[in-house]
Amino acid sequence: MGKKRWIAQCFMLSAFVVGNMSCVFAADARIEERVDSVLRLMTLTEKIGQMNQLSNKEDLTGQQLEYFDTETLIRAGQVGSMLNVAGVEKVRRYQEMAVNDTRLHIPLVFGLDVVHGFRTISPIPLAESCSWNMDLIEHSARVAAVEAAAAGLQWTFAPMVDIARDPRWGRVMEGAGEDPFLGAAIAAARVKGFQGDDLSAENTIAACAKHFVGYGAVEGGRDYNTVDISTQRLRELYLPPFEAAARAGVATFMNAFNELMGIPATGSTFLVRDILKGEWNYDGMVVSDWGSVAEMIVHGVACDKSEAARLAVTAGCDMDMEGYCYVSALEDLVRKGVVPESLIDDAVRRVLRLKFRLGLFDDPYRYCDTEREKRETLSADKRDAVRSVARESIVLLENREGILPLNKRYKSIGLIGPLADNPDDMLGSWCAWGDGRDVVDIRQGIEQAVGKSVAIRYAKGCEVEGDDRSGFSEAIQLARECDVVVMCLGENRFMSGEGASRTRLTLPGVQRELLQKVKETGTPVVLLLTNGRPLVLDWEKENIGTIVECWQLGVEAGNAIADVLFGKYNPSGKLVMSFPHNEGQIPVYYNCKSTGRPYIPNERYVTHYQDCPNEPLYSFGYGLSYTRFEYGDVALDKDILAEGDTLHVSVPVTNVGDYDGEEVVQLYIRDLCSRITRPEKELRGFKKIALKRGETQVVEFEVSFSDLEYVLADGSRVWDPGTFELFVGGNPDVVKKASFELK
Ligand code: NOJ
Repeated sequence: MGKKRWIAQCFMLSAFVVGNMSCVFAADARIEERVDSVLRLMTLTEKIGQMNQLSNKEDLTGQQLEYFDTETLIRAGQVGSMLNVAGVEKVRRYQEMAVNDTRLHIPLVFGLDVVHGFRTISPIPLAESCSWNMDLIEHSARVAAVEAAAAGLQWTFAPMVDIARDPRWGRVMEGAGEDPFLGAAIAAARVKGFQGDDLSAENTIAACAKHFVGYGAVEGGRDYNTVDISTQRLRELYLPPFEAAARAGVATFMNAFNELMGIPATGSTFLVRDILKGEWNYDGMVVSDWGSVAEMIVHGVACDKSEAARLAVTAGCDMDMEGYCYVSALEDLVRKGVVPESLIDDAVRRVLRLKFRLGLFDDPYRYCDTEREKRETLSADKRDAVRSVARESIVLLENREGILPLNKRYKSIGLIGPLADNPDDMLGSWCAWGDGRDVVDIRQGIEQAVGKSVAIRYAKGCEVEGDDRSGFSEAIQLARECDVVVMCLGENRFMSGEGASRTRLTLPGVQRELLQKVKETGTPVVLLLTNGRPLVLDWEKENIGTIVECWQLGVEAGNAIADVLFGKYNPSGKLVMSFPHNEGQIPVYYNCKSTGRPYIPNERYVTHYQDCPNEPLYSFGYGLSYTRFEYGDVALDKDILAEGDTLHVSVPVTNVGDYDGEEVVQLYIRDLCSRITRPEKELRGFKKIALKRGETQVVEFEVSFSDLEYVLADGSRVWDPGTFELFVGGNPDVVKKASFELK
């Protein structure tokens, strides 16, 4: 059979399989057969070509290490995937090269960092996670997938599921914060959102769990820095979101840049071969991070590209992103018998499997429909969805004076600050094809919300960075003349994301000084923060009674913020990462351990700082509402649990305030005596509920026996008999407690 006819038949078989989704197992078996039949036709050079990924040179998302003529390589069958190409026209052009001009006509797979939207930019993931709303988070990824797929893409390098306890690290904006339980739930929701139920559908894309693993633990929060964490901590803190992503069927994984315990993650057999592909039996594809195969030379564990390629492929890295090591060295390594061809076959099988699963062998242009692209890009329904996500991402930190929601009393609003009239910085980092011109910024959002009934006046005051105070006097004068001031301060979008670590986390530049001066006018101040990481807000907390953490909310930022300011939406966000008192307190996180010397006030020889509390300024789980929620007593259906039992927990929650609202009810446990030390509090459940004024709801949780287990360094799950404490509440300092025994 001629090769072209063979491929055509292959497409038809896939179509048949896709049409019979009820028989998923048979479909997978069929894919396996066809993967093998393609593999049998491939030369060694063609196989290695499938393991090579190149970036579009006009949109680099890293440093280009070497220059190759991409088009020549594609036509030579030396490229399996491209990144940073998007838009139907461009994707089609490269796809045609692969499909028409190579011997086996194998389509390319196109990937991009669709981290929080493709063009319709949604809140940064850290923000979105503060909604604690898994349906919303899943939907947000769905919206991004539909738009990205319409732009020719089949693969996103998201979700980033790195647990992070250090806000100096700029990449915290991409993740879900500090907790492994919540992080796992969010990882699964995002994977489901991107991939839907059918990866081969034209409006779903493959997800990628990254960065495997430990990247969130870079020393000092300095990006790309050394990581050394114990296997125990790796298992209990950093791996759970990755495992959850794998269980949710994530199509791909990405290696991390960092080393872990002396071995660069990209070359770590322990991480990839043993844990991911061994213990978890993962059959998806692993892509390196940008140049991370070649970086093993710089790490100092490989003396050249050949050694780097050998280490990476042995460890289980299937595709080399912009590292050029596989195409330059693997063939020789196999021919010399240094690398067994079976390792290459395993990697290529995974690449082909991905392409089959995506339906690319059915129709390599199935994501290339210009009409669909026009229809889906920035469509009204996407903007609506993003607005809902954005307002639910906002966290009300302070409302001591009851200024919010702003009411008719305020006839003139002074908008002050470098982020008030600033569409671009609302996008945040990793904003793909986002465009500031699509953004409703804070000024626009507020103006549209109030119409002509309230005077909105604006003064920038200062820049985000730098020490220029020349705008101060205009801003101060404006503050004097208005009924209320809304100050828009924070970070610009380049201050977080990759390569954006910082050691000073107070408001940058002279922003705090401007805030101090405006406060001195005596006009009430609402502080709106736009930033990509937890900031140091010690002065602000003490001196400003109204603080709203808005994060970077994307194209609908202004509308979402106006919804919250004027009470159209009652804020419900809860922090997913603790805010430190100062930089010296980092890392600070809620799930800490008691130590042998827990804190006792006024004692010297206990764990404490002389100049700072142990607790964060604002903890994980914290966030206010315009209304108040009261918790009744926690009821347990049993006091003693035997192996296999489930504990039923219920607690009445009443909205005792003046507004309808939503509450995130959180359940934590503490294992009082176990064979290894355990945290003082561990999240084991949460529910987001909506309560009308005066309404009570009994919130129920089921704590299964496995929720009380923990993992040991060798990966085994264990439990210990004894007493557990259980805490239920909506804020870390408002909790109801109960206890039970495990037998
Ligand atoms: C490097 C980043 O670490 C990774 O997250 C990203 O997906 C790649 N570059 C591609 O842009």
